[in-house]
Order: sequence, then C-alpha cells, then structure tokens
Amino acid sequence: MLKPLTSLNDVKQLSKDNLEALQVARLKETLHHVFNHSLPYREKFEEAGVHPDDLNNLQDLKKFPFTTKQDLRAHYPFGLFSVPMDQVTRIHASSGTTGKPTVVGYTKDDIDHWATCVARSIEAAGGRAGDRVQVAYGYGLFTGGLGAHYGAEKLGCTVIPMSGGQTEKQVQLLRDFQSDIIMVTPSYMLNIADELDRQGVDPRELKLRLGIFGAEPWTNAMRQAIETRCGIDATDIYGLSEVMGPGVAQEFVDSKDGPTIWEDHFLPEIIDPDTGEVLEDGQEGELVFTSLTKEAFPVIRYRTRDLTRLLPGSECVMRRMMKITGRSDDMMIVRGVNVFPSQIEELILRFPALAPHYQIELSKAGNMDAVMLRIELAAGANKETATAQAGELEAQIKALIGISCGTLLCDEGGIPRSEGKAKRVVDRR
Ligand code: DLL
Repeated sequence: MLKPLTSLNDVKQLSKDNLEALQVARLKETLHHVFNHSLPYREKFEEAGVHPDDLNNLQDLKKFPFTTKQDLRAHYPFGLFSVPMDQVTRIHASSGTTGKPTVVGYTKDDIDHWATCVARSIEAAGGRAGDRVQVAYGYGLFTGGLGAHYGAEKLGCTVIPMSGGQTEKQVQLLRDFQSDIIMVTPSYMLNIADELDRQGVDPRELKLRLGIFGAEPWTNAMRQAIETRCGIDATDIYGLSEVMGPGVAQEFVDSKDGPTIWEDHFLPEIIDPDTGEVLEDGQEGELVFTSLTKEAFPVIRYRTRDLTRLLPGSECVMRRMMKITGRSDDMMIVRGVNVFPSQIEELILRFPALAPHYQIELSKAGNMDAVMLRIELAAGANKETATAQAGELEAQIKALIGISCGTLLCDEGGIPRSEGKAKRVVDRR
C-alpha cells in the first residue's frame, strides 16, 4: 500500500512496514529531485562523495550532508528552490532575530500536502468538519496564519481568519461567532484569557472546546493552567517554516503525550548537536528533518536546533517527539549552568499568586552573570502573598535549576504582551 494517506484513519491503520516502504520510496525520489534540480544540493552531495543511488534504506540517510540555516542564508532568497520560479505558487519567510529572513517556497502540490497535514493535525486535536476555527496566528509571511487556514478549510471547518492581535476583538469573535477551536500561540492565549476576565466573560460560557497551540515552547504546567482557566482541551502543534510550517507534528487530544510526527511527509532524526552523530530513539538531542514530499523547497537533513527525543508512536505507528523544552539558541548559559526558559516557566506555575507572564533578564554584575526574573502578580492576588511566593520561587530555582536569581514583581500588564511568539529572554550582557 504505497498510496498517499489522506485521512487520519489511514494514518491509524498504517503498518510499520508500509510506512517504511513509503518513506524509502519518497526519500529516493526527494534525493534525486534535489540532485537534479538544485545546484547547491548537487554540489553539497558531490563534496560529501554521495549520490542519491547510494540510498537503499533509511539508515543510509546518514551518509548525506546536513542542511543548516547558514545554507539558506548563503542562497538567499531563492537559490535552494528545486523548481523553476513559475511553478512556485507561494512564498513565506521567517524574520529570524538577525540578518536576512529565511525564505521558503511552495508549489501547488506542496500547499495541498501542507493543508492535508494541518487538516490531519486539527482532526488529531479533536476537531472535525463543521467546527468553527478562529485562526489567531499571524497572517502574512509567517507560516502560522495561512498554514492553519488552509488546513482548517481542507478539513471542512468554517474558518475565522482573525490573525494575531486586536485582543478585544478576539474575545468578541469567540463570543459572537461561537468559535469551537482557537489556533494561537500559547502565550497569546493567556492574553486572550486575561481579556476574557477583563470583560467579565466566563470562558465556560463560550462554545470554545479546543486550543491548538504552538510556534513557541510551552510546558505541560502551562497546558494545565490554560485548560483549567478556559475549560478547553489544549494540544501542541509543532512545525517550522523551513520544513513546511505548522503541522509537521501534532498531539492527539486523547493522549496529550507529545506531538506525533507526520512521518509520511517528514523523516525525523535526532543527532548529537556537537558531533552530528545520529542518536538512538529515546535519547535527547537536536531534531533533524528530511522532507519526503516537498517539490519547491525540499530539505535534506535540516538541522532545526530544537532539542527533543523521539518516542514510540502511541496512537499510530508514527513516532512522537517529546514536547520541545527549548531551542539550542534559547539556551541561556548562566555562570556555566545551562538553563531553558521552560524550566523557569514550570516553577512559576507552581505559585498561584504569580501569573505566567514573565521575562528573564540577563545582565553582568562585574564579571558575573546576573539573572532577574520579572513576573506579574496574578489577577486579584495579594501583594504580600505574592512576595512570599516569589521568595520561595527563587529558592526553588536555586535548588532545582542551580542558579541564583532575583525576582521583580510587576502589576498586571507590566510584562510586554506578545501577539505571537513571546520574547522570554532579554540578554543585556
Ligand atoms: O512557528 C510554525 C508554526 C506556526 C508552528 C504555528 C506551530 C504553530 P517558524 O516561525 O519558522 O515556524 O518557527 C519555528 O518555532 O523551530 C521551534 O523552535 C518553535 N516551535 C514551533 N512550534 C513549536 C512547539 C512556526 N509546538 C520554530 N513547541 C521551531 C515548541 C515550537 N516550539
């Protein structure tokens, strides 16, 4: 059975052998496609002394060279595309923190496969045809808005293309249009929840039942906080522009045990970020993807810089990834200790008088790194209680993460609100 998998049911019924046969066939095709149609890929393969014919099974993939963000920058904007420009129907780009944006392109079929992956993701998240989906990811060059949009349409949902921002209006539409599902970054969902409170709307009176959250790291503690506060099921959607956009992997609502990677389209590997050695499933390292169906912008062994582990499938034969704890470039090194914002987030959420709106500020005190954690008081919290809890938080950060930090309590609104991806770290060193 080498047919494409169209529905979630097809995915659930697929056997391991059939998945592997499909992957090998598609991988061979992709390697030949880039070798024949993208000069930079051909040169990289030749430099590494490999040819697409050298691949006979999935293990052979490790003979091929990695692709990195630097490769994308070097061939800015369209140099890595593997089809003529007149076959490219859409361009997206991610701004990145510095320098040139990363540019990606899609053919008509790429857009269709992407929509299939997102439709499948919404279904795995508990959505179905007829649901009203409020898309509050940003529309534009960012892949979030349009990616979610096409997938929701493909599943047969009614799409409400709200985009990010205009928080009051988000609430108005949730209420008046009776959205069943919201797709948004988890940090922006918290802002929407605050706005619901501000307007005196009880989230439980809304029809909203599912949140499909991604585009930034968020913890299971944050999931619980959002679910309890909004009375919805919250699942994790993962993706990145270079590989496609949202819908590379999605968590199933029944298990909420980490996103399942849609392995018929994206082949994952985990590598040691320092040596590039491929690690066994279960070991933590950098996630690497090879696209299996893309035409305009296939990626071969693309290094995501996201850190996770591959886990066996639970709802189907395709493997899961552990919820992303951080990117290698989000990692803060504080007096030699490696720290991710998600570790701090998990601890903040233990304290009811503290809101999960936070920012970590790094500076230098003489030669030493200093960390100041700015956190908002939870709505209605007593300042004295919050101060005591902030002290306890500092102690837990010291005991569990191993760094000393100060805390600074802010009033509601004191931490800049994100309308998309939250900025958790301000490094002034
Ligand atoms: O953020 C695509 C996306 C849009 C995914 C909407 C999910 C929902 P980029 O802007 O290229 O694309 O950023 C990709 O964001 O490498 C991760 O570091 C991070 N990221 C994305 N989803 C998750 C997630 C989109 N569920 C980068 N958990 C990735 C943790 C995530 N990090």
